[in-house]
Amino acid sequence: MGPDERLEHIAKAKKALKIPVIASLNGSSLGGWTDYARQIQEAGADALELNIYTIPTDLDSPGSRVEETAVEIVRAVRKAVKIPLAVKCSPFYSNMANMAKRFVDAGADGLVLFNRFYQPDVDLENVDIRPKVLWSTPQAARLPLTWIGILYGRIKTDLAATSGVHNGRDVIKMMMVGASVTLIASALYRHGLKHLSVMERDTREWMEKNEYESIRQMRGSLSKLNCPDPAAFERAHYMRALQTPPSA
Ligand SMILES: Cc1cc2nc3c(=O)[nH]c(=O)nc-3n(C[C@H](O)[C@H](O)[C@H](O)COP(=O)(O)O)c2cc1C
Repeated sequence: MGPDERLEHIAKAKKALKIPVIASLNGSSLGGWTDYARQIQEAGADALELNIYTIPTDLDSPGSRVEETAVEIVRAVRKAVKIPLAVKCSPFYSNMANMAKRFVDAGADGLVLFNRFYQPDVDLENVDIRPKVLWSTPQAARLPLTWIGILYGRIKTDLAATSGVHNGRDVIKMMMVGASVTLIASALYRHGLKHLSVMERDTREWMEKNEYESIRQMRGSLSKLNCPDPAAFERAHYMRALQTPPSA
């Protein structure tokens, strides 16, 4: 889809649906494209997800500059739109907690944790690099699970979990560490859209069996909100994990 076609698509989706339409915008540097965010809003999107997708490779660009650019992108898009803004970000910052806070200070209403950067493979038959998006494995959930648990309640924002959410149990785990929503891509590609209702049913069944009345009741119950020093907690868990036999 070209940019104009995409705006039309958003407008059509908005007309056809009763649920909110969240548009996604992918950016890696500051530029005139932030104007496109405004056009997305005008097309009727209820909210915008800004995907900061960049793999810095410049040997002379320090991490601090990469971080400042990312924050400036958020600031620029925030200035361009009034609708709620979520930032889908990278986990690869020196201090993710600080970056999360800076994104929120720059105007993000929500954080989507995390961007999954495609990693190419080498095609030995054709002796070439093979760019390919891989479906996620359940293990991929551990990274957002860790960070949502650390950030929940410590910064004023909604947290969305993406990566490795494949079934109802994964949804519940993410809610327990503090996610407000989960995003699902690979599981839908693999099982088709009908899998959404299976996941919803499984989530409900687990909640009923375990006597939870609402998502709100379980949200953040396993976060590190009441932990005075999450870094020490992580270190202690690491030590414990090393003493536990590994499993699949
Ligand atoms: C085939 C495929 C296409 C994707 N396209 C996009 C995209 O256009 N924009 C985006 O932000 N993420 C895209 N993603 C990433 C997903 O939104 C998601 O962040 C990631 O796949 C992790 O979630 P999952 O474990 O449910 O797949 C894509 C993922 C897959 C598998």
